[in-house]
Amino acid sequence: MNIIITDFEKTIREAGNIALSYYLNLEQLKVEKKSPRDFVTEADLAVEVYLKDVLFKQYPQFGFWGEESGQSENQTNRWIVDPIDGTHSFAKGQYFWAISVALEVNGEIIIGAVYAPALDDYYFAKKNLGAWKNGQQISVSTETSLSNAMVSTGFACIRSYLTDNNLQRFCRIAERTTGQRRFGSAALDLCMVADGQVDAFWEQELNLYDIAAGALIAQEAGATITDFKGNKGLYPKQILATNGAIFEQLLSLM
Ligand code: IPD
Ligand code: CA
Ligand code: CA
Repeated sequence: MNIIITDFEKTIREAGNIALSYYLNLEQLKVEKKSPRDFVTEADLAVEVYLKDVLFKQYPQFGFWGEESGQSENQTNRWIVDPIDGTHSFAKGQYFWAISVALEVNGEIIIGAVYAPALDDYYFAKKNLGAWKNGQQISVSTETSLSNAMVSTGFACIRSYLTDNNLQRFCRIAERTTGQRRFGSAALDLCMVADGQVDAFWEQELNLYDIAAGALIAQEAGATITDFKGNKGLYPKQILATNGAIFEQLLSLM
């Protein structure tokens, strides 16, 4: 399989330009409700249509699963795409939103790209070949003490009306860490574990398209990716990503 990385990056950046064309005209932005606490904008749809069209043309051997258009027939080898992760942030004119594109081959995520157009930060990883941010190789933080750590999380569980709504867990962890953040894009949360901006991230009730690319980037940067019981692997309904050094300390609080 020959993915020409420069062509791939160009495609992702062009998708970012499409998103930015809406971001710079938010007063005209058309928004639709998907559920009481979830919505989609015309920017999400335009980015996904572009990526589906270009990726099919460039790499016809792969299927496509996009958050907004669903799954194509080829399920084993496919692109997994969240056209805009952090739609609410995007619609409010904030900076933390990203285009997330992963390639899954034989059930394994082998390429991941997360591009934050408003920040012009491009994160990329290829399985077993490391993780990169704007062309520089990145690695997780070296923080060893949970009490000194900065952590991030999200509340998809509240949008899904889960009884375990993460609030008690958040308070338990907030009392034992130095900094806590809620950035609003799980894909970027995982990239910020990868480049050491945060020491750990956890969230429930996500979908594979939210985390596939970001989790590979974090893993290739040295992160430990598990569920809330410490089982290694990709669990969208319960993801815990840490720098490894504070994994056991944080796991005991999950
Ligand atoms: C959302 C973001 C957010 C997470 C939500 C996701 P979306 O993605 O990743 O951080 O907490 O659960 O749905 O809906 O903007 O693509
Ligand atoms: Ca998402
Ligand atoms: Ca989305």
